[in-house]
Formats: sequence, C-alpha cells, structure tokens
Amino acid sequence: MTAYDARFRVWRGDAEGGSLRDFTVEVHDGEVVLDIVHRIQATQASDLAVRWNCKAGKCGSCSAEVNGRPRLMCMTRMSVFARDETVTITPLRAFPVVRDLVTDVSFNYAKAREVPAFVPPEGVAAGAYRMQQVDVERSQEFRKCIECFLCQDTCHVVRDHEENKAAFAGPRFLMRVAELDMHPLDAAAEAGLDRKRAAQEEHGLGYCNITKCCTEVCPEGIRITDNALIPLKERAVDRKYDPLVWLGSRIRRRSDSDPR
Ligand code: SF4
Ligand code: SF4
Ligand code: FES
Repeated sequence: MTAYDARFRVWRGDAEGGSLRDFTVEVHDGEVVLDIVHRIQATQASDLAVRWNCKAGKCGSCSAEVNGRPRLMCMTRMSVFARDETVTITPLRAFPVVRDLVTDVSFNYAKAREVPAFVPPEGVAAGAYRMQQVDVERSQEFRKCIECFLCQDTCHVVRDHEENKAAFAGPRFLMRVAELDMHPLDAAAEAGLDRKRAAQEEHGLGYCNITKCCTEVCPEGIRITDNALIPLKERAVDRKYDPLVWLGSRIRRRSDSDPR
C-alpha cells in the first residue's frame, strides 16, 4: 500500500458564517473523500460535522461539493484528483448550513409532501395490478433515487435563487410527479386530481429549461431530464392544447361564473 500527503480545504462554520480551513492529510490507495474527512476528524478536528451512514452510495447522506461539484463523498475516489491538487470540500450550496459539511435539507421533505401519493385504481386488489413491462421499467428507473438531493442542489433554478424555492419542486420531485402521471394504474384523474396541471401550476415545471445539469450529477445515473422532465413537459403541453381539455375548461369556467 502506498500513501501520500494531500492538501485539503474544508469549509467550517455554521449558519452565522464560516471559512475554508487548510488540512494536510495522509491518503492511502483506494480511499474516497469521505475517508479523508473521517481522518481529519480522527486526527485534526474531532468536532468537524459531517453526515453519512452507509459508505456505499446508497443512503444519500454524504452529499457535499467537492471542488465545486455536487458529489457523494463516499463514492468519490481520491484517485480522480492529481496528488498535488488541493481538494476543496464545501457543504451543499442550495441549502442552509447547520454546521460544517451538514446542511438542512428539509426543503426537500416539504416538497415531497406536496406531491399527492399514488391513487390506487378502484376495483383492483393490491397484488392484482398488471401493467406492461415498459411501464414497470420506467418506474424502476425513477425508483432508484436515493434522495441524495445532489440534483436539487445543482439545479440553477434554486441554487442561487432562494426566491424560487416556494414555486419550484426541483428535479427530484418533478420526476416523482412524472412517474405518477405516466403510471398506467394511477387513478388520480378519477379522483379529480390533475397531475399535469399541478406540475405546471404548483410544482413549477415551467422553470425547468432542460439544461440536464441534474442528470449529470445523479449518482444513480437516472436520466432525469430525458426520461422524466421532458416527457412531463410534453404531456403538460398536450393537455393545454388538447381541444377537449380546452372545451372542458371553457365550460367549467362559464358554469363557475354563471350566477344562477
Ligand atoms: S434540467 Fe431542469 S430541473 Fe434539471 S437542472 Fe436543468 S433546469 Fe433544473
Ligand atoms: S434523482 Fe439522483 S441526484 Fe436526485 S436525489 Fe435522486 S439519486 Fe440523488
Ligand atoms: S454514506 Fe451513504 S451515500 Fe455516502
């Protein structure tokens, strides 16, 4: 096993403010960025705050920015950096800092609660659902999400625009809306719930200009933009220009304003 000393800059502070601190740390073959953070904790800064759980890329806890790119620290090998490169580790930029590398990601939980759950079809018992394999595979891709919120962090709609957060669910939750809207057994429409309208008017689909930055950082390789956001936009536009939908909304509007 070979080892070398590498330079790191780690953000330390809290909601009041903070700064980058320099550390020189021993790096061993095969290590990942999270190993280095743990070594800093063990040898130089025992009170350094970091969130992690699985160290296997599955819990989504260890999200941070490494040299400015949103990444899972446990899945970022030190071998991707040159040995003489200074590696900078900062907390997720889109969310408020709690302390050091730990951010408050409750924005995401609030957005999750705004998406109504799957509506079971009437008259079909659980376990008796049948659907095409292509529909199963579509849902399975979206279901690989580990809720690391790297996509939420990188999306420019909210990354530097706190003011957009109220109106924009972010890629992870627009993907959830897309999954449910494309689910062949979801009975939301029968229950009076229009997921396409909600995507536009409540979850801020129109803010997304399909830059694909969310897709680029997803550690699960989910094709968020191509397979969820673009199809959802197409479906929402189809709804808007569907003559039957248009006629229905005109009739509804007229009867709403009818004083009788
Ligand atoms: S594709 Fe849309 S959701 Fe994804 S990063 Fe770009 S604007 Fe944000
Ligand atoms: S879609 Fe990908 S990047 Fe976004 S939260 Fe899920 S796993 Fe993370
Ligand atoms: S520690 Fe679980 S994803 Fe990194």
